[in-house]
Amino acid sequence: MRIIRCKDYDAMSRKAANIISAQVIMKPNAKLGLATGTTPIGAYQQLIKWYEKDDVDFSQVSTYNLDEYRGLSHEDPQSYHYFMRKNFFDHVNIDLANTHVPDGSNLDADEACASYDELVKSVGYVDLQLLGIGNNGHIGFNEPDEAFSKGTHCVDLTESTIQANSRLFEREEDVPRQAYTMGVQTIMRARSILVIANGEAKAQAVRDMCFGRVTPHVPASILQLHTNCTVIADDAALSLCPEIK
Ligand code: GLP
Repeated sequence: MRIIRCKDYDAMSRKAANIISAQVIMKPNAKLGLATGTTPIGAYQQLIKWYEKDDVDFSQVSTYNLDEYRGLSHEDPQSYHYFMRKNFFDHVNIDLANTHVPDGSNLDADEACASYDELVKSVGYVDLQLLGIGNNGHIGFNEPDEAFSKGTHCVDLTESTIQANSRLFEREEDVPRQAYTMGVQTIMRARSILVIANGEAKAQAVRDMCFGRVTPHVPASILQLHTNCTVIADDAALSLCPEIK
């Protein structure tokens, strides 16, 4: 695991965008695993700026998002489908037909998850997986558990995730209680992984991810076993990791 410290959110976002755009420049038809949440917004904004300057071209790229709330339509402003269009896809020259997000509008969880899994497997998994991290160490929506999950599956969100994500909804009751998420095994099959984290609220999760025991109680801790994983975090998120200068 490579850990890169930077001073703040903007610096973290630029570094992450640099790595993503390098991937696309080196392999124009790269398969990118993408993430939602507030953490990656700055990186997406930076990529849009470079696209506008003609520095990076997404026309051949395909994308596979980590997760989606169960029960939200693609047009629902709280859905991750909507988030990705608004924050990234609508502003670059990506072909929307090449963008993929688990289908939260399909209430048949087994079918929705199996078909997403089949899709990601059929393309040979992603070249670069971008990840944020939840306050409790979750990745995608893989919550702390007794065992690591494998493929795409339906999860009951924990109280702590519902609360953390409620800031993006009008009322806490509006936060969906279930989501479809790529499993930990699928995430680990990415050829490279880029985790971004900022702010003090993530400090314990970042400490546990990078230096704790590898345990399903901290899903992100398994990333220590990936052969090509980079963490970019700001000073606040690394405040409990004095070993990283
Ligand atoms: C959600 C998403 C995760 C994301 C996490 C942290 O639960 N499913 O993919 O990493 O929130 O979000 P934020 O970046 O807003 O802190």
